[in-house]
Amino acid sequence: MKPKTLRFPFRWVERKPILSDDVLYVPRHYDQHEAWDKGELEAIFASFSSISIEYCAGNGLWIAQKAQENPSSLWIAVEKRFDRVQRIWAKKHNLSLNNLLVVAGEAEAFTSYYLKPEMIDQIFVNFPDPWPKPKHAKNRLLQKPFVEEMKRVLKPLGEVVLVTDDAVYSQQMIQEMMQEDLWRSSFPTPHYVTDWPSYGTSYFEELWKNQGRVIYYKKFIK
Ligand SMILES: C[S@@+](CC[C@H](N)C(=O)[O-])C[C@H]1O[C@@H](n2cnc3c(N)ncnc32)[C@H](O)[C@@H]1O
Repeated sequence: MKPKTLRFPFRWVERKPILSDDVLYVPRHYDQHEAWDKGELEAIFASFSSISIEYCAGNGLWIAQKAQENPSSLWIAVEKRFDRVQRIWAKKHNLSLNNLLVVAGEAEAFTSYYLKPEMIDQIFVNFPDPWPKPKHAKNRLLQKPFVEEMKRVLKPLGEVVLVTDDAVYSQQMIQEMMQEDLWRSSFPTPHYVTDWPSYGTSYFEELWKNQGRVIYYKKFIK
């Protein structure tokens, strides 16, 4: 299956949530998320004993490997760019990954409107956009409102893994997570490791490692 086989299902004026071909489309600038019938989506969630999410999944290299290695879990790839959603979807079909659900939409809206409390086992965020300029830092995903949402949807003892090559953003992530007593870091101070050989490989991890950049891996338990 070629990525471009997947076609965008609606014109902007007709946008609405749609679940088709194992892709959930979460429209932007839309205020009817709560009214959408989530029965089919919740049936998918209920058919797996555990659920893991990768936010900012890019082309899906990392999550496709994980879904292949862990077939009894549901893996949810959340990605806002449609060209990248197409690549994740093609991997899903070409590798017959029946346990991979693709979400075409923004992490914040999907989490807030489509996930119930304490239903997720693991959350991974691999190389979220770092927005390195101070005037753009407000756009970073890993800030209090999203940390609160991760807290809401994770089961007790659920895990959050955050990976970045950006030292400043990495420190911000640690500060956001350690602000509350709720989270325990799996790694001793400074709360990260720079090598995690069994972690898996993503497109950006390979890219940055080949350029000799330091990668900061962090893991927190709820
Ligand atoms: C630097 S890339 C990393 C991709 C992949 N995780 C990897 O390691 O190769 C960041 C990705 O996050 C996506 N992204 C950024 N903000 C997002 C958001 N709020 N919701 C969903 N995806 C987002 C971007 O479209 C982009 O594909």
